[in-house]
Amino acid sequence: MSDTLTIALSKGRIFKETLPLLAHAGIVPIDDPETSRKLILDTNHPDVKLVIIRASDVPTYVEYGAADLGVAGKDVLMEHGGDGLYEPLDLKIARCKLMVAGPVGQPEPTGRMKIATKFVHSTRRYYASLGKQVEIIKLYGSMELAPLVGLADRIVDLVDTGNTLRANGLEPLEHIAEVSSRLIVNKASMKMKHARMRAFIEQIAEAVDGREK
Ligand code: ATP
Ligand code: PRP
Repeated sequence: MSDTLTIALSKGRIFKETLPLLAHAGIVPIDDPETSRKLILDTNHPDVKLVIIRASDVPTYVEYGAADLGVAGKDVLMEHGGDGLYEPLDLKIARCKLMVAGPVGQPEPTGRMKIATKFVHSTRRYYASLGKQVEIIKLYGSMELAPLVGLADRIVDLVDTGNTLRANGLEPLEHIAEVSSRLIVNKASMKMKHARMRAFIEQIAEAVDGREK
């Protein structure tokens, strides 16, 4: 059991919700990413490190083997494309929905709609599946603002409670996908560190099942 494990996580919601699952596998970080400036966090196991990166960078680190494992939202994985990774486990954390939203009560405009989103690939696939031609405007955040200032007719964004939409005079219109975070695994690590990786994945799976009961 001398293989080291590097696990990629993003700060905030995913880190917080992954902590109890890691604890079940006996892994406890020594530093807190919310207060520490460190990007590589030590844990109580000298051979397990956590790397703290942007949520949308997690699949890239894992695909290229800079991390053996990672936790990423299905939204992020749908944008990244899943071919270069294994996705062995739904962790059932950070649950929300990818939805189309628009100004309350506003009928669908005629002609080519403008859709603001950071989820360009998922949005393109969704409208292609409906056979609708739309113009997609790529944003990096605060999508809710776009319809309010005339930048777009609709947005595609994550919705949980709906509070952010309501606060901005928007309503959910169409459901695109259910989102939760997934454990993702580097393909080469799965071969080279098989026993260690399997044991880790099984412990995390047990923690997920335990939470469901
Ligand atoms: P980046 O820093 O790359 O822009 P981000 O700001 O979207 O990412 P977070 O807000 O921490 O990062 O979200 C991480 C993941 O949590 C998302 O990819 C999504 O799967 C999930 N998520 C986002 N918003 C919510 C929410 N309101 N409720 C539940 N889960 C959410
Ligand atoms: C996410 C998402 C929505 C909001 C939806 O933002 O981008 O804006 O949550 O949640 P709600 O339906 O419960 O209001 P987040 O809180 O992560 O902020 P950020 O993306 O700006 O970090």
